[in-house]
Amino acid sequence: MGFQIRQVHPVFVGELTGIDLRRPPGEDEVAALHAGMQRYAVLVLPNQAVTDEEQIAFSRHLGELELAVGGTLQKSEEKRLKLELADASNLDRHNKLFARNDRNRMYSLGNRLWHSDSSFRPIPAKYSLLSARTLPSAGGNTEFADMRAAYDALDADMKALINDLVCEHSLVYSRQQIGFDDLSHEERSMFTVARQPLVRKHPWSGRQSLFLSAHAGAIVGWEKPEARDLLRHLTEHATQREFVYAHAWRLNDLVIWDNRQTMHRVCRFDDTREPRDMRRTTIAGDGPETLPHHSSGRA
Ligand SMILES: [Fe+2]
Repeated sequence: MGFQIRQVHPVFVGELTGIDLRRPPGEDEVAALHAGMQRYAVLVLPNQAVTDEEQIAFSRHLGELELAVGGTLQKSEEKRLKLELADASNLDRHNKLFARNDRNRMYSLGNRLWHSDSSFRPIPAKYSLLSARTLPSAGGNTEFADMRAAYDALDADMKALINDLVCEHSLVYSRQQIGFDDLSHEERSMFTVARQPLVRKHPWSGRQSLFLSAHAGAIVGWEKPEARDLLRHLTEHATQREFVYAHAWRLNDLVIWDNRQTMHRVCRFDDTREPRDMRRTTIAGDGPETLPHHSSGRA
C-alpha cells in the first residue's frame, strides 16, 4: 500500500496520495482511510479523475450512502445527477447555469454559511466526498473549520454551560439566515426539525467537538434570541482563522471531510457566469446522535 498522508494545516487536514479511487480499495486501505479521517478530519486527494459510477463505487467501501432526497427544492425528476450524488453545482438538469433569480440558486446560496452536511436529518452525515469536475476561474474555495480544536479552546465555564444542551436543526433555519423564506407549504412540511447534541463525542476516539451548523436555530428549553446569541458566539469562536483551512480546488481534487468533527462553507464566486460542477457522495451516520439526557456518564 503506497498510502501516504502529509498534514497541510497546523491543527488538521491531510493530503492523501498513493491511492487510486478508480480501483476497489483493499481492506488495509479502507482501515487507513478511516484512521486518517479520525486524525485529520479532512483529507485532500489530488488527481482523482473519477466518473460518477467510480465515485459511488468507492464511497460504498466507506459505509452506507445517504441518498440526496429531501435536502433540496428539486424533485427527483428535476435532478441532474443520480440520487446517490448530491449536486453541489450551479447547474440545472440541462447543464445550464441557474439564472440569477432562480429559486434553486437562491436556495443553494445557503451553502455559503458554515454548516455540517445533513445536520437537519435525524441521522446526520458521517463523511462527505466532494469531487471537482469543473471549476470557475476565480473564487469558490471551500473552507473547513476544526470543531474539536474549537471545543478544546473553550474555557471550563463555557464547556459546563453547553455540554448537555440540545439544538434543533432545520433547513428552514439556515434559509432564514440568508433571507430565503419563499417556501411552499409542502416544502415547509418537508423541512422538519432534528434534535442534535451541541457537543458530541467521536465514537472511536471519544474526542469531544462542537456540533454547530447554520441549520441549528434553536436550543431546547431556551428562548430563541438567547439561543441564537449563543450559537452565533460559538460559531464565531469556532471559525477563527487558527481553526480554519481554505481549500483552493484543483481540477479532479476529491476532498473527504468528517461532518462529525468539522464545519465547512463555500466561498463566493461568480456563479451566474461560470460553471462550478462539484459532485458529492455522502456516507450516512451510524445512527441518531445520543442526546445528553439519554446518555450515561457524561460529565
Ligand atoms: Fe455542505
